[in-house]
Amino acid sequence: MPEDFPYEQITDGCFAESIGEHGLSRSAFEGALGATAAAIEKLRQRHDDGSLPLLRLPETHDDLPAIEARAAWHRERADDVVVLGTGGSSLGGQSLYALADAGFGPSGHAARLHFLDNVDPHTFDHMFRSLDLSRTDFIVISKSGGTAETMTQFLICLEAVVDEVGREMAADHFTVITEPGDNPLRTIAAEWGLLTLDHDPGIGGRYSALSLVGLLPAAIAGLDLGDVREGAHQVLYSTLHAARPEASDPAIGAAINVGLWQERGVAATVLMPYSDRLAWFAMWFRQLWAESLGKDGKGTLPVRAVGTVDQHSQLQLYLAGPADKLFTVIQTRTAGTGRIVSPELASDRRLAYLAGRKMGDLFDAEQRATTETLIRNGRPTRIIKVDRVDERTMGGLMMHYFLETIIAAHLLGVDPFDQPAVEEGKVLTREYLGQMEAHAR
Ligand code: PA5
Repeated sequence: MPEDFPYEQITDGCFAESIGEHGLSRSAFEGALGATAAAIEKLRQRHDDGSLPLLRLPETHDDLPAIEARAAWHRERADDVVVLGTGGSSLGGQSLYALADAGFGPSGHAARLHFLDNVDPHTFDHMFRSLDLSRTDFIVISKSGGTAETMTQFLICLEAVVDEVGREMAADHFTVITEPGDNPLRTIAAEWGLLTLDHDPGIGGRYSALSLVGLLPAAIAGLDLGDVREGAHQVLYSTLHAARPEASDPAIGAAINVGLWQERGVAATVLMPYSDRLAWFAMWFRQLWAESLGKDGKGTLPVRAVGTVDQHSQLQLYLAGPADKLFTVIQTRTAGTGRIVSPELASDRRLAYLAGRKMGDLFDAEQRATTETLIRNGRPTRIIKVDRVDERTMGGLMMHYFLETIIAAHLLGVDPFDQPAVEEGKVLTREYLGQMEAHAR
Protein backbone atom coordinates (compact mmCIF):
# COMPACT_ATOMS: atom_id res chain seq x y z
CA MET A 1 0.00 0.00 0.00
CA PRO A 2 1.27 3.55 -0.66
CA GLU A 3 2.49 5.36 2.44
CA ASP A 4 -0.40 7.82 2.48
CA PHE A 5 -3.09 5.12 2.19
CA PRO A 6 -5.95 6.10 4.53
CA TYR A 7 -5.58 3.07 6.84
CA GLU A 8 -3.69 -0.14 7.52
CA GLN A 9 -5.60 -3.40 7.94
CA ILE A 10 -4.03 -6.08 10.15
CA THR A 11 -5.78 -9.45 10.15
CA ASP A 12 -3.41 -11.88 11.94
CA GLY A 13 -5.74 -11.98 14.95
CA CYS A 14 -8.53 -13.51 12.86
CA PHE A 15 -6.81 -16.80 12.12
CA ALA A 16 -6.72 -20.14 13.91
CA GLU A 17 -2.93 -20.24 13.80
CA SER A 18 -2.85 -17.09 16.00
CA ILE A 19 -5.91 -17.42 18.23
CA GLY A 20 -6.81 -21.10 18.22
CA GLU A 21 -10.10 -22.89 17.66
CA HIS A 22 -12.33 -19.82 17.17
CA GLY A 23 -10.12 -18.46 14.41
CA LEU A 24 -10.52 -18.94 10.69
CA SER A 25 -8.54 -21.76 9.11
CA ARG A 26 -6.19 -20.75 6.31
CA SER A 27 -7.90 -23.16 3.92
CA ALA A 28 -11.37 -21.70 4.54
CA PHE A 29 -9.95 -18.20 4.16
CA GLU A 30 -8.21 -19.02 0.93
CA GLY A 31 -11.37 -20.59 -0.47
CA ALA A 32 -13.44 -17.50 0.37
CA LEU A 33 -10.75 -15.09 -0.80
CA GLY A 34 -10.42 -16.90 -4.11
CA ALA A 35 -14.15 -16.50 -4.64
CA THR A 36 -13.86 -12.72 -4.25
CA ALA A 37 -11.96 -12.54 -7.55
CA ALA A 38 -15.22 -12.73 -9.49
CA ALA A 39 -16.72 -9.96 -7.34
CA ILE A 40 -13.73 -7.70 -7.96
CA GLU A 41 -13.94 -8.38 -11.67
CA LYS A 42 -17.63 -7.42 -11.61
CA LEU A 43 -16.77 -4.20 -9.77
CA ARG A 44 -14.20 -3.42 -12.45
CA GLN A 45 -16.77 -3.95 -15.18
CA ARG A 46 -19.38 -1.86 -13.39
CA HIS A 47 -16.85 0.90 -12.85
CA ASP A 48 -15.84 0.89 -16.51
CA ASP A 49 -19.35 0.77 -17.96
CA GLY A 50 -20.69 3.25 -15.38
CA SER A 51 -23.54 0.96 -14.33
CA LEU A 52 -22.74 1.43 -10.62
CA PRO A 53 -22.43 5.23 -10.24
CA LEU A 54 -21.12 4.87 -6.68
CA LEU A 55 -17.84 3.69 -8.21
CA ARG A 56 -17.56 6.83 -10.33
CA LEU A 57 -18.05 9.30 -7.48
CA PRO A 58 -14.47 9.23 -6.13
CA GLU A 59 -13.08 10.49 -9.43
CA THR A 60 -15.86 13.04 -9.96
CA HIS A 61 -15.15 16.69 -9.15
CA ASP A 62 -17.47 18.73 -11.33
CA ASP A 63 -20.44 18.39 -8.96
CA LEU A 64 -18.55 19.86 -6.01
CA PRO A 65 -18.84 23.60 -6.85
CA ALA A 66 -22.66 23.42 -6.89
CA ILE A 67 -22.67 21.60 -3.55
CA GLU A 68 -20.26 24.17 -2.08
CA ALA A 69 -22.38 27.03 -3.42
CA ARG A 70 -25.56 25.74 -1.80
CA ALA A 71 -23.64 25.06 1.41
CA ALA A 72 -22.38 28.66 1.40
CA TRP A 73 -25.98 29.86 1.02
CA HIS A 74 -27.03 28.01 4.15
CA ARG A 75 -23.88 28.95 6.07
CA GLU A 76 -24.48 32.64 5.45
CA ARG A 77 -28.13 32.65 6.40
CA ALA A 78 -28.54 30.13 9.17
CA ASP A 79 -27.37 29.58 12.73
CA ASP A 80 -28.85 26.09 12.64
CA VAL A 81 -29.41 23.66 9.79
CA VAL A 82 -31.73 20.72 10.34
CA VAL A 83 -31.26 17.69 8.12
CA LEU A 84 -34.48 15.73 7.65
CA GLY A 85 -34.30 12.17 6.33
CA THR A 86 -33.79 8.65 7.58
CA GLY A 87 -31.58 5.58 7.08
CA GLY A 88 -29.13 6.06 4.24
CA SER A 89 -30.39 9.59 3.69
CA SER A 90 -29.10 10.61 7.11
CA LEU A 91 -26.30 8.40 8.41
CA GLY A 92 -23.61 9.34 5.86
CA GLY A 93 -24.07 13.04 6.59
CA GLN A 94 -24.05 12.38 10.34
CA SER A 95 -20.79 10.42 10.04
CA LEU A 96 -19.10 13.21 8.12
CA TYR A 97 -20.49 15.94 10.35
CA ALA A 98 -19.02 14.17 13.39
CA LEU A 99 -15.58 15.12 12.04
CA ALA A 100 -16.46 18.77 12.54
CA ASP A 101 -18.49 18.70 15.71
CA ALA A 102 -17.56 16.73 18.82
CA GLY A 103 -20.76 17.84 20.52
CA PHE A 104 -19.98 21.50 21.18
CA GLY A 105 -20.76 22.91 17.74
CA PRO A 106 -18.52 23.11 14.68
CA SER A 107 -15.45 25.31 14.73
CA GLY A 108 -15.41 28.71 13.02
CA HIS A 109 -18.74 30.31 12.32
CA ALA A 110 -20.35 27.33 10.61
CA ALA A 111 -23.99 26.64 11.35
CA ARG A 112 -24.77 23.88 13.82
CA LEU A 113 -26.27 20.85 12.13
CA HIS A 114 -28.97 18.66 13.63
CA PHE A 115 -29.94 15.36 12.04
CA LEU A 116 -33.52 14.44 12.76
CA ASP A 117 -34.02 10.90 11.56
CA ASN A 118 -36.99 9.90 13.67
CA VAL A 119 -40.62 10.95 14.08
CA ASP A 120 -40.68 11.25 17.84
CA PRO A 121 -43.06 14.18 18.41
CA HIS A 122 -41.26 15.08 21.63
CA THR A 123 -38.02 15.75 19.73
CA PHE A 124 -39.77 17.97 17.21
CA ASP A 125 -41.62 19.92 19.91
CA HIS A 126 -38.27 20.44 21.63
CA MET A 127 -36.69 21.60 18.37
CA PHE A 128 -39.46 24.10 17.66
CA ARG A 129 -39.11 25.49 21.19
CA SER A 130 -35.31 25.63 21.00
CA LEU A 131 -34.47 26.99 17.55
CA ASP A 132 -35.15 30.41 16.09
CA LEU A 133 -36.89 29.32 12.89
CA SER A 134 -36.15 32.61 11.20
CA ARG A 135 -32.44 31.64 11.44
CA THR A 136 -32.93 27.90 10.77
CA ASP A 137 -32.69 26.15 7.40
CA PHE A 138 -33.74 22.63 6.45
CA ILE A 139 -32.18 20.07 4.12
CA VAL A 140 -34.79 17.47 3.20
CA ILE A 141 -33.35 14.24 1.84
CA SER A 142 -35.38 11.36 0.45
CA LYS A 143 -34.31 9.42 -2.61
CA SER A 144 -37.79 8.00 -3.20
CA GLY A 145 -39.46 11.24 -2.16
CA GLY A 146 -42.21 9.29 -0.46
CA THR A 147 -40.83 7.88 2.81
CA ALA A 148 -43.53 8.36 5.46
CA GLU A 149 -41.19 9.53 8.20
CA THR A 150 -39.37 12.07 6.05
CA MET A 151 -42.56 13.40 4.45
CA THR A 152 -44.11 13.87 7.90
CA GLN A 153 -41.01 15.68 9.15
CA PHE A 154 -40.94 17.85 6.03
CA LEU A 155 -44.61 18.83 6.00
CA ILE A 156 -44.57 19.70 9.68
CA CYS A 157 -41.40 21.79 9.34
CA LEU A 158 -42.64 23.52 6.18
CA GLU A 159 -45.78 24.65 7.94
CA ALA A 160 -43.82 25.81 10.99
CA VAL A 161 -41.45 27.87 8.82
CA VAL A 162 -44.33 29.40 6.84
CA ASP A 163 -45.98 30.36 10.15
CA GLU A 164 -42.73 31.97 11.28
CA VAL A 165 -41.50 33.81 8.18
CA GLY A 166 -44.45 33.82 5.77
CA ARG A 167 -45.06 31.98 2.53
CA GLU A 168 -42.86 34.28 0.41
CA MET A 169 -39.72 33.78 2.48
CA ALA A 170 -40.21 30.12 3.41
CA ALA A 171 -38.65 28.74 0.23
CA ASP A 172 -35.26 30.24 1.11
CA HIS A 173 -35.09 28.02 4.17
CA PHE A 174 -35.21 24.72 2.31
CA THR A 175 -33.04 22.58 0.08
CA VAL A 176 -34.60 19.34 -1.12
CA ILE A 177 -32.64 16.32 -2.39
CA THR A 178 -34.67 13.68 -4.20
CA GLU A 179 -34.46 11.63 -7.35
CA PRO A 180 -35.80 12.97 -10.65
CA GLY A 181 -39.29 12.00 -11.76
CA ASP A 182 -42.66 12.19 -10.15
CA ASN A 183 -42.71 11.79 -6.37
CA PRO A 184 -44.59 13.58 -3.58
CA LEU A 185 -41.55 15.41 -2.20
CA ARG A 186 -40.56 16.79 -5.59
CA THR A 187 -44.15 17.79 -6.38
CA ILE A 188 -44.60 19.72 -3.12
CA ALA A 189 -41.12 21.26 -3.43
CA ALA A 190 -42.04 22.53 -6.92
CA GLU A 191 -45.38 23.93 -5.69
CA TRP A 192 -43.60 25.86 -2.95
CA GLY A 193 -40.60 26.90 -5.06
CA LEU A 194 -38.05 25.01 -2.94
CA LEU A 195 -34.63 24.50 -4.50
CA THR A 196 -34.43 20.82 -5.46
CA LEU A 197 -31.22 18.93 -6.22
CA ASP A 198 -31.18 15.57 -7.96
CA HIS A 199 -30.37 12.42 -6.02
CA ASP A 200 -28.71 10.07 -8.49
CA PRO A 201 -31.29 7.32 -9.11
CA GLY A 202 -28.47 4.81 -9.54
CA ILE A 203 -27.12 5.35 -6.00
CA GLY A 204 -29.11 3.69 -3.22
CA GLY A 205 -29.64 5.50 0.06
CA ARG A 206 -27.06 3.61 2.10
CA TYR A 207 -24.52 3.96 -0.71
CA SER A 208 -25.02 7.73 -1.04
CA ALA A 209 -22.63 9.17 1.58
CA LEU A 210 -20.10 10.30 -1.03
CA SER A 211 -22.77 12.00 -3.16
CA LEU A 212 -24.42 15.31 -2.37
CA VAL A 213 -26.50 13.46 0.23
CA GLY A 214 -23.50 13.25 2.57
CA LEU A 215 -21.46 16.06 1.07
CA LEU A 216 -23.95 18.92 1.36
CA PRO A 217 -24.13 18.62 5.16
CA ALA A 218 -20.34 18.11 5.21
CA ALA A 219 -19.79 21.29 3.19
CA ILE A 220 -22.07 23.30 5.48
CA ALA A 221 -19.85 22.14 8.34
CA GLY A 222 -16.80 23.41 6.45
CA LEU A 223 -15.26 20.03 5.58
CA ASP A 224 -13.07 19.47 2.53
CA LEU A 225 -15.18 17.54 0.04
CA GLY A 226 -12.26 16.91 -2.33
CA ASP A 227 -10.38 15.14 0.47
CA VAL A 228 -13.36 12.89 1.22
CA ARG A 229 -13.50 11.82 -2.42
CA GLU A 230 -9.70 11.48 -2.60
CA GLY A 231 -9.62 9.03 0.33
CA ALA A 232 -12.39 7.00 -1.31
CA HIS A 233 -10.53 7.07 -4.59
CA GLN A 234 -7.35 5.64 -3.09
CA VAL A 235 -9.21 2.69 -1.61
CA LEU A 236 -11.31 2.05 -4.70
CA TYR A 237 -8.30 2.31 -6.97
CA SER A 238 -6.33 -0.22 -4.92
CA THR A 239 -9.12 -2.78 -5.24
CA LEU A 240 -9.90 -2.16 -8.91
CA HIS A 241 -6.21 -2.48 -9.73
CA ALA A 242 -5.46 -5.38 -7.43
CA ALA A 243 -3.61 -8.06 -9.37
CA ARG A 244 -4.97 -10.66 -6.93
CA PRO A 245 -7.63 -10.51 -4.17
CA GLU A 246 -4.81 -10.64 -1.57
CA ALA A 247 -4.03 -7.05 -2.61
CA SER A 248 -7.53 -5.79 -1.81
CA ASP A 249 -8.23 -4.97 1.85
CA PRO A 250 -12.03 -5.00 1.31
CA ALA A 251 -11.84 -8.44 -0.34
CA ILE A 252 -9.78 -9.76 2.58
CA GLY A 253 -12.30 -8.27 5.03
CA ALA A 254 -15.24 -9.83 3.18
CA ALA A 255 -13.53 -13.24 3.03
CA ILE A 256 -12.81 -13.15 6.77
CA ASN A 257 -16.37 -12.14 7.66
CA VAL A 258 -18.04 -14.71 5.45
CA GLY A 259 -15.40 -17.40 6.12
CA LEU A 260 -15.84 -17.07 9.90
CA TRP A 261 -19.61 -17.22 9.54
CA GLN A 262 -19.49 -20.32 7.37
CA GLU A 263 -16.72 -22.18 9.19
CA ARG A 264 -17.18 -21.12 12.83
CA GLY A 265 -20.73 -19.79 13.04
CA VAL A 266 -19.47 -16.28 13.80
CA ALA A 267 -22.80 -14.49 13.50
CA ALA A 268 -21.94 -10.96 14.64
CA THR A 269 -19.43 -8.39 13.49
CA VAL A 270 -18.49 -5.70 15.99
CA LEU A 271 -16.99 -2.43 14.80
CA MET A 272 -15.24 -0.63 17.65
CA PRO A 273 -13.49 2.62 16.78
CA TYR A 274 -11.35 4.32 19.39
CA SER A 275 -12.51 7.77 18.39
CA ASP A 276 -15.63 9.72 19.24
CA ARG A 277 -15.46 11.17 15.73
CA LEU A 278 -15.90 7.68 14.29
CA ALA A 279 -18.82 6.71 16.52
CA TRP A 280 -21.36 7.77 13.89
CA PHE A 281 -19.32 6.09 11.21
CA ALA A 282 -19.84 2.82 13.07
CA MET A 283 -23.60 3.51 13.09
CA TRP A 284 -23.42 4.15 9.37
CA PHE A 285 -21.60 0.82 8.88
CA ARG A 286 -24.26 -0.95 10.96
CA GLN A 287 -27.02 0.11 8.57
CA LEU A 288 -24.96 -0.57 5.44
CA TRP A 289 -24.08 -4.09 6.55
CA ALA A 290 -27.49 -5.05 7.96
CA GLU A 291 -29.68 -3.76 5.15
CA SER A 292 -27.35 -5.00 2.43
CA LEU A 293 -26.65 -8.53 3.67
CA GLY A 294 -29.59 -9.63 5.83
CA LYS A 295 -31.39 -11.70 3.23
CA ASP A 296 -32.49 -15.31 2.61
CA GLY A 297 -31.53 -16.34 6.14
CA LYS A 298 -28.01 -15.03 5.63
CA GLY A 299 -26.03 -12.10 6.97
CA THR A 300 -24.25 -11.35 10.24
CA LEU A 301 -25.37 -8.94 12.95
CA PRO A 302 -23.44 -5.66 12.86
CA VAL A 303 -22.75 -4.17 16.28
CA ARG A 304 -21.49 -0.69 17.01
CA ALA A 305 -19.16 -0.26 19.96
CA VAL A 306 -17.01 2.71 20.92
CA GLY A 307 -13.72 2.55 22.77
CA THR A 308 -13.14 3.17 25.62
CA VAL A 309 -16.82 3.55 26.53
CA ASP A 310 -17.86 -0.01 25.71
CA GLN A 311 -15.02 -1.49 27.71
CA HIS A 312 -17.28 -0.58 30.63
CA SER A 313 -20.39 -1.94 28.97
CA GLN A 314 -19.86 -4.73 26.42
CA LEU A 315 -16.31 -5.97 26.83
CA GLN A 316 -17.04 -8.57 29.51
CA LEU A 317 -19.41 -10.29 27.07
CA TYR A 318 -16.99 -9.89 24.20
CA LEU A 319 -14.19 -11.59 26.14
CA ALA A 320 -16.03 -14.26 28.07
CA GLY A 321 -19.40 -14.71 26.34
CA PRO A 322 -20.01 -16.86 23.27
CA ALA A 323 -17.14 -16.76 20.75
CA ASP A 324 -19.53 -15.86 17.94
CA LYS A 325 -18.25 -12.41 17.03
CA LEU A 326 -15.63 -10.91 14.78
CA PHE A 327 -14.12 -7.73 16.19
CA THR A 328 -12.78 -4.88 14.12
CA VAL A 329 -10.97 -2.39 16.31
CA ILE A 330 -10.21 0.93 14.64
CA GLN A 331 -7.08 2.18 16.36
CA THR A 332 -6.26 5.87 16.07
CA ARG A 333 -2.91 7.52 16.71
CA THR A 334 -3.38 9.41 19.94
CA ALA A 335 -0.24 8.80 22.05
CA GLY A 336 1.32 12.10 23.08
CA THR A 337 -1.80 14.13 22.27
CA GLY A 338 -4.22 16.00 24.51
CA ARG A 339 -3.79 17.50 27.93
CA ILE A 340 -1.49 16.26 30.68
CA VAL A 341 -2.71 14.82 33.96
CA SER A 342 -1.00 17.10 36.43
CA PRO A 343 1.54 15.16 38.53
CA GLU A 344 0.73 17.47 41.45
CA LEU A 345 -2.99 16.76 41.28
CA ALA A 346 -2.38 13.04 40.74
CA SER A 347 0.07 12.74 43.62
CA ASP A 348 -1.98 9.96 45.25
CA ARG A 349 0.32 6.96 44.76
CA ARG A 350 -2.61 4.90 43.44
CA LEU A 351 -2.78 7.30 40.49
CA ALA A 352 0.97 7.22 39.82
CA TYR A 353 0.40 5.44 36.48
CA LEU A 354 -1.59 8.48 35.27
CA ALA A 355 0.60 11.29 36.61
CA GLY A 356 2.34 13.19 33.83
CA ARG A 357 0.62 11.19 31.11
CA LYS A 358 -1.41 12.78 28.36
CA MET A 359 -5.04 11.85 27.83
CA GLY A 360 -4.07 10.48 24.40
CA ASP A 361 -1.52 8.19 26.10
CA LEU A 362 -4.30 6.58 28.08
CA PHE A 363 -6.47 6.29 24.95
CA ASP A 364 -3.59 4.68 23.08
CA ALA A 365 -2.74 2.25 25.88
CA GLU A 366 -6.38 1.24 26.23
CA GLN A 367 -6.98 0.54 22.56
CA ARG A 368 -3.87 -1.60 22.36
CA ALA A 369 -4.69 -3.39 25.62
CA THR A 370 -8.28 -4.17 24.54
CA THR A 371 -7.18 -5.46 21.15
CA GLU A 372 -4.49 -7.64 22.68
CA THR A 373 -6.87 -8.97 25.32
CA LEU A 374 -9.42 -9.96 22.67
CA ILE A 375 -6.72 -11.80 20.74
CA ARG A 376 -5.33 -13.52 23.87
CA ASN A 377 -8.84 -14.69 24.69
CA GLY A 378 -9.08 -16.31 21.27
CA ARG A 379 -11.60 -13.87 19.80
CA PRO A 380 -11.22 -13.19 16.07
CA THR A 381 -9.93 -9.62 15.88
CA ARG A 382 -9.01 -7.40 12.97
CA ILE A 383 -7.21 -4.09 13.48
CA ILE A 384 -7.70 -1.08 11.23
CA LYS A 385 -5.09 1.54 12.06
CA VAL A 386 -5.57 5.15 11.04
CA ASP A 387 -3.06 7.96 11.49
CA ARG A 388 -5.55 10.80 11.30
CA VAL A 389 -9.30 11.05 11.74
CA ASP A 390 -10.07 13.44 8.92
CA GLU A 391 -11.94 13.75 5.63
CA ARG A 392 -9.53 11.60 3.64
CA THR A 393 -9.60 8.81 6.21
CA MET A 394 -13.40 8.96 6.39
CA GLY A 395 -13.71 8.77 2.60
CA GLY A 396 -11.30 5.83 2.59
CA LEU A 397 -13.09 3.95 5.36
CA MET A 398 -16.47 4.51 3.73
CA MET A 399 -15.22 3.14 0.42
CA HIS A 400 -13.60 0.21 2.21
CA TYR A 401 -16.92 -0.74 3.77
CA PHE A 402 -18.91 -0.17 0.57
CA LEU A 403 -16.62 -2.62 -1.17
CA GLU A 404 -16.37 -5.08 1.71
CA THR A 405 -20.17 -5.18 1.89
CA ILE A 406 -20.68 -5.62 -1.86
CA ILE A 407 -18.02 -8.35 -2.01
CA ALA A 408 -19.47 -10.10 1.06
CA ALA A 409 -22.88 -10.04 -0.65
CA HIS A 410 -21.34 -11.74 -3.64
CA LEU A 411 -19.89 -14.47 -1.40
CA LEU A 412 -23.25 -14.94 0.31
CA GLY A 413 -25.19 -14.88 -2.95
CA VAL A 414 -27.47 -11.98 -1.97
CA ASP A 415 -28.28 -8.66 -3.64
CA PRO A 416 -26.62 -5.86 -1.61
CA PHE A 417 -28.74 -3.12 -3.17
CA ASP A 418 -32.31 -4.05 -2.21
CA GLN A 419 -34.20 -4.34 1.09
CA PRO A 420 -37.44 -6.20 0.29
CA ALA A 421 -38.22 -7.39 3.82
CA VAL A 422 -38.88 -3.92 5.27
CA GLU A 423 -41.81 -3.32 2.91
CA GLU A 424 -44.26 -5.40 4.98
CA GLY A 425 -44.02 -3.08 7.99
CA LYS A 426 -44.53 -0.02 5.78
CA VAL A 427 -47.77 -1.45 4.36
CA LEU A 428 -49.03 -2.27 7.85
CA THR A 429 -48.18 1.23 9.11
CA ARG A 430 -50.36 2.75 6.41
CA GLU A 431 -53.14 0.33 7.31
CA TYR A 432 -52.96 1.31 11.02
CA LEU A 433 -52.87 5.03 10.17
CA GLY A 434 -55.94 4.55 7.98
CA GLN A 435 -57.79 3.17 11.02
CA MET A 436 -56.99 6.29 13.09
CA GLU A 437 -58.95 9.50 13.16
CA ALA A 438 -57.51 12.43 11.18
CA HIS A 439 -56.95 15.60 13.22
CA ALA A 440 -57.87 19.06 11.99
CA ARG A 441 -55.28 21.66 12.88
O1 PA5 B 1 -30.39 2.58 2.43
C1 PA5 B 1 -31.56 2.62 2.09
O2 PA5 B 1 -31.94 2.35 0.94
C2 PA5 B 1 -32.61 3.05 3.09
O3 PA5 B 1 -32.10 3.07 4.37
C3 PA5 B 1 -33.12 4.43 2.73
O4 PA5 B 1 -32.05 5.34 2.76
C4 PA5 B 1 -34.20 4.89 3.72
O5 PA5 B 1 -35.23 3.96 3.76
C5 PA5 B 1 -34.74 6.24 3.30
O6 PA5 B 1 -35.24 6.18 1.99
P1 PA5 B 1 -35.49 7.49 1.16
O7 PA5 B 1 -34.20 8.16 0.95
O8 PA5 B 1 -36.12 7.01 -0.12
O9 PA5 B 1 -36.44 8.34 1.96
